[in-house]
Amino acid sequence: MKNKHFTLLYGRYIICVQLNFYTEEIKLKKLLLLLLSAVMIISMAGCAAGNTAPGAETAAEQAEEPPALFNKTLVVYFSATGNTRNVALNIASATNADLHEIVPEVPYTDADLDYNSDCRANREQNDDEARPAINGGEFGIEQYDVIFLGYPIWWGQAPKIMYTFLESHDFSGKTIIPFCTSGSSSIGTSAENMHASASNAEWLDGQRFASSVSREDLTEWINGLDIDIKAE
Ligand SMILES: Cc1cc2nc3c(=O)[nH]c(=O)nc-3n(C[C@H](O)[C@H](O)[C@H](O)COP(=O)(O)O)c2cc1C
Repeated sequence: MKNKHFTLLYGRYIICVQLNFYTEEIKLKKLLLLLLSAVMIISMAGCAAGNTAPGAETAAEQAEEPPALFNKTLVVYFSATGNTRNVALNIASATNADLHEIVPEVPYTDADLDYNSDCRANREQNDDEARPAINGGEFGIEQYDVIFLGYPIWWGQAPKIMYTFLESHDFSGKTIIPFCTSGSSSIGTSAENMHASASNAEWLDGQRFASSVSREDLTEWINGLDIDIKAE
């Protein structure tokens, strides 16, 4: 009987095997096969214990990744007599958005809105410098990615208080979607004329609605926009 020592190096494992050799060659082959099987089993067990291939992620590592960020939406509006407010409420409800009203520091009375007279609203619309003050300060606009911006049409344009609002916030990286209500006028140039007051925003085309617009029509409009938002 001969005694021999074999040392097999495989990865981290060192297996020392002492073999007692018998003269028959067949027995030696069988033993070697057994040893190779043992090495493979140990190796597979090591992988299962956490030795993943470089670059591969375990399920646990994947679960720890932060969730994808979703667009946060705000509907901000000015409404003197309630029509734009109704539309704004419906858009906010359909998109699960937050709602913010632009409230004038000095509210508009009926006389202020009597456009057949030399009323306050008419005077403001005719004054390039008019910037009616807003009641209330910061409300955390920085947290929003998508902003629906609502207003009534006054003499074909947005009320000057919309300019006050746009010029007092930073809209960089945000998408603004204008909408308006009117007696009959289209949105015309009213939205385009506001672009310069928030030039670092991405402005989408605006839309005019009748005050009686249905929720279904609003939903259809929103879902046709090039934004990552689904309305219901
Ligand atoms: C001063 C003033 C000017 C207006 N100019 C127009 C106009 O040019 N075209 C139009 O269709 N409606 C005009 N309207 C009607 C409003 O656009 C309409 O009633 C709107 O829905 C009011 O919205 P609100 O209730 O949210 O304030 C005007 C109203 C006011 C008070």
